[in-house]
Amino acid sequence: MITMTRSFPAPRSLLLGTGGYVPEQVVTNGDLERLVETSDAWIQERTGIRERRKASDQEAASDMATAAARKALEMAGISASELSMIIVGTISADQPLPACAVHVQRNLGVTSIPAFDIAAACAGFLYGMSIADQFVARGQAKYVLVIGVELLTRLMNWNDRTTCVLFGDGAGAVVIGPNAEAKDRTARGILSTCLFSDGSQADALCIPAGGSREPLTTEGIEQRRNKVHMEGREIFKNAVRNLVSSSINALEQAGVSAGEITWVVAHQANLRILAQVAQRLEVPMDKFILNIERYGNTSSASIPLALDEGVRDGRIKPGDLLLMTALGAGLSWGSAVVRY
Ligand code: ACO
Repeated sequence: MITMTRSFPAPRSLLLGTGGYVPEQVVTNGDLERLVETSDAWIQERTGIRERRKASDQEAASDMATAAARKALEMAGISASELSMIIVGTISADQPLPACAVHVQRNLGVTSIPAFDIAAACAGFLYGMSIADQFVARGQAKYVLVIGVELLTRLMNWNDRTTCVLFGDGAGAVVIGPNAEAKDRTARGILSTCLFSDGSQADALCIPAGGSREPLTTEGIEQRRNKVHMEGREIFKNAVRNLVSSSINALEQAGVSAGEITWVVAHQANLRILAQVAQRLEVPMDKFILNIERYGNTSSASIPLALDEGVRDGRIKPGDLLLMTALGAGLSWGSAVVRY
């Protein structure tokens, strides 16, 4: 486990700008009824999802990431040339090699700064934000671009109703920079982050083939072993338990109580998971920024997309206390407390 908290006085990292991007094409539950044996009623009741977005054939993950990044930079009032680092959380990069982040870097016309990917699935954005926080708060980086992007519709087995109804495409980004004037815990910025993984659960959610363990073969492709496989019920149980415990951890590290939280910006995998998390943390559901109904599970893009929506529609205001929490393949999970 890694937990990071600030002692004061110390510089603090601040979210300076947010951006989001979703592809135009909408895939409804009705569309999926024509593909697999499922129903709009089952999907809505079991997951809370009505529709999701699907990237066009011309789009790659870095295109979506770049679109979100440009909006975040614009809101932050920072030009790409001022960035010190680019971190991309993704498991659906343009190519196995090189990183999605270097394609974003090229798209933004930046050179000579580190740009790298984090493969922590749905927790990828929180992992990236935590790393950015360490660099910025210590003065080793000034402005860091953190992106969560997934083009999961390309990684689906469209014959598998247990996965293909869940996931969607999208990207979200934040620009993180220093708040040198942070004097105490009421100042804006990242108050705490905590990260966890449990590799004993690695097989519960994976893409079995296409790596060094099981190189891709014709048989592997026929058996869809290059697509997402998930033991959903097992993940569900782990998700509720770990999202709650890491949230409590992050709240304790930040020195705040769940009752003080203004908004929960959680990874959106399943509305029932979030309802159970809300109940256990004793935070009402109307404090959750939700978009699962429209976007499904966008993995690492989920938190920054929801954050961007909340900021742009005016629900999230400067000074609001945010709890972020996510769990995904690995299993990898984490939480953060941020005074926006
Ligand atoms: N339509 C209709 N029926 C379905 C569908 C579907 N799309 N999918 C499954 N079913 C059936 C199953 O076959 C099963 O039928 P059976 O009882 O005859 O065997 C029945 O519905 C119940 O299946 P469960 O798996 O028990 O359904 P559950 O209520 O658990 O919902 C779900 C499944 C939505 C996958 C849920 O378990 C879940 O959300 N899990 C967590 C997902 C998650 O958090 N993933 C991590 C993040 S993703 C990442 O890291 C990339």
